[in-house]
Formats: sequence, structure tokens, C-alpha cells
Amino acid sequence: MRILAIETSCDETSAAVVVDGRRALSNVVSSSQELHQRFGGIVPEVASRKQVELIGPVVLQALEQAGVGWEDIEAVAVTNRPGLIGSLVVGLCAAKAIAWALGVPLVGVNHLEGHMAANFLEEQPPELPAVVLVVSGGHTDLALMHALDNYELLGRTRDDAAGEAFDKAARILGLGYPGGPAIDRIAAQGNRAAVDFPRALLPDSWDFSFSGPKTALARYLRDTPPERRPALADLAASFQEALVEVLVTKSLLACERLGVDRLMVAGGVAVNSRLRGLLAERAQAEGVQVRIPPAVLCTDNAAMIGAAAYPRLARGDYDDLHLDAYASTHRPH
Ligand code: KG4
Ligand code: ZN
Repeated sequence: MRILAIETSCDETSAAVVVDGRRALSNVVSSSQELHQRFGGIVPEVASRKQVELIGPVVLQALEQAGVGWEDIEAVAVTNRPGLIGSLVVGLCAAKAIAWALGVPLVGVNHLEGHMAANFLEEQPPELPAVVLVVSGGHTDLALMHALDNYELLGRTRDDAAGEAFDKAARILGLGYPGGPAIDRIAAQGNRAAVDFPRALLPDSWDFSFSGPKTALARYLRDTPPERRPALADLAASFQEALVEVLVTKSLLACERLGVDRLMVAGGVAVNSRLRGLLAERAQAEGVQVRIPPAVLCTDNAAMIGAAAYPRLARGDYDDLHLDAYASTHRPH
């Protein structure tokens, strides 16, 4: 089944053609990130206006790169929650129009489930059950996955998402937006043990909390005169270490406690080189098999939305043209 998938929940406009939820024939991603850089964060109105400009060309490019025509599209999948409402609506309207014009089924996808499905865009789909860690700008979720469309949410962040913490710390450090890649880059040269930022392990819960290290960083800079501070790279590396250590420790603890020896990671923060490094090290020591998709499938993209929609499409569980967009995860019934 050839699925045209569309993702416009934030500042990326993306379209992909995905076969059987497994093989991406194309995955075009266009970002309005640089427009937001001078504001130090995403400006929703700017993002949705850019979505309107980009959605048409991006969909056409996805068809062209896949080498298919409209007549080859058998279903349309679209992110309809959660996200910036103005951005979501652009992709949703395009998806509905295409599904209606072609007379093919439409399925609305939860963005978080899209990230979880990124690891399935492989010749060899992951074996299940597996623990899944989704770490993005909007989410830090730990789940136990039994099937692509059957998972239990174990825990989530109680305050900032991991990517949000990276972005806020980068802003405090004057490293610009988006902060995750900037911190990752500069931290590579830094001393991870220069400053001991707090690690909130919340031992009785699978939840996370990342506002502590961010506040600690702001206080540290306020209370430490410049001449007594370590280099910027050391600060970035120490901050990154506090976040990464919590993510790795809790994910592997979940594997151990639940008796599962497979871990999947997804979302923009899964690109982080220290997260990948520490996870590889500790997981090997504990006999846990780790899967992380290539970078393009970690950050927002439409191919993962096509992968997530496939089980529903395969069993004929479609949405109709009343499908709506929701800013938050929970879809009212
Ligand atoms: O999944 P994503 O593209 O969008 C959301 O659904 O939020 O994730 C974006 C987040 C941003 O917070 C960004 O700073 C973070 O992922 N990110 C990184 C890295 N690359 C992107 N965080 C840490 N290290 C990176 N290399
Ligand atoms: Zn995302």
C-alpha cells in the first residue's frame, strides 16, 4: 500500500511516500527554523504562514522523488495532534483535500506515535516488546510497546521536555536556537564533570523532570563571576551530561524492571551524540539491544507518520473528512 504521509505539527513541513509502513520512497523535510532563530524560539504565527507556503511544493516534491503520480497513492496519513494548531491545520487541510480528490482513505496520526514508529522504517522491523524512549522538543515519554499500535505509557516529563531543556539552556548560554544541536556540538570539546548539575531520578516513578538542571544552570551563572566559571564547552558538556544520564539510567532501569532486553529511542534529542554514546556503552554492559533511527528519522518527518498509520490502514480503520486537529495529545470523542 502506497501511503502519502504529511507532517506539519511544528516548524517542519514534510511529506513522504511510504510503502506498507516500512519503506520510505521519499521523505522531504523543509524547515522554517532559520526564520525563528532571531526570535530565539518558534513563533507559531510565523511557522503556520510558512507551512501554507511550503505544503504544496513539498507534497509535489515527495511524489516526484518517490517516482510516483497521484494515481499511485492509495491512502493519506496526516499528523492531527498534538502540535501548534495553526501549523497542524495546514497539513490536515491538504491531506483532506488530497484524500477527497483521489477518493482514498484518510488516517489522522498522533505525532508521538509517529516518533515511536520511526524505528519501523527498516527492512528488519524491531522485535517486540520493547521499551521506547521518545525525546523531542515537546515530549519525554517512556513507553512499553507490545505492537506498533499497542503501547503503555509508563512515564513522561512533569515539566520541561528534554529538547525544551536543551533549547532553554542554550538560550541561557547564548548559543542560539535550536539549542540541542548547538550544545551537542560545543559539548564535544568540554569536560562533562566540570559542574555537577542536579539529576532528578524520581526513583518511585517513570516520570522525568528537567526544569531542575535548567534552573541550576541559570543560578550557577548568576552566582559565579565570569573569571571563576569553566569554559563554555565545559558548562555545555556538564549540562548535557545531567540530562543524558537521567535519560539513559531510567530507560535501562525500565528494561531491567520490566524484563525487556530491547530499547528503542526516537525524537529530535535521539540525534544527540552523547546520548547515543552513553546508551551504547551502558546498554551493552547490561545486555540490552538498542535501536535509534538515523538522524532524519529522529527529528520531525512525514515518513514516520506513514509508518504509524499503516496498522490502522491495513485493517480498514479510517477517519472521515470530519477529522479535526488538536493542540494537545488527547483527542476528545
Ligand atoms: O522531534 P523534534 O524534531 O520536534 C519535536 O517534536 O519537538 O525535536 C526537536 C528537539 C529540539 O528541542 C532540539 O533542540 C532537539 O530536538 N535536538 C537535539 C539535537 N538535535 C535536535 N537535542 C540534543 N542534541 C541534538 N543533537
Ligand atoms: Zn516531533
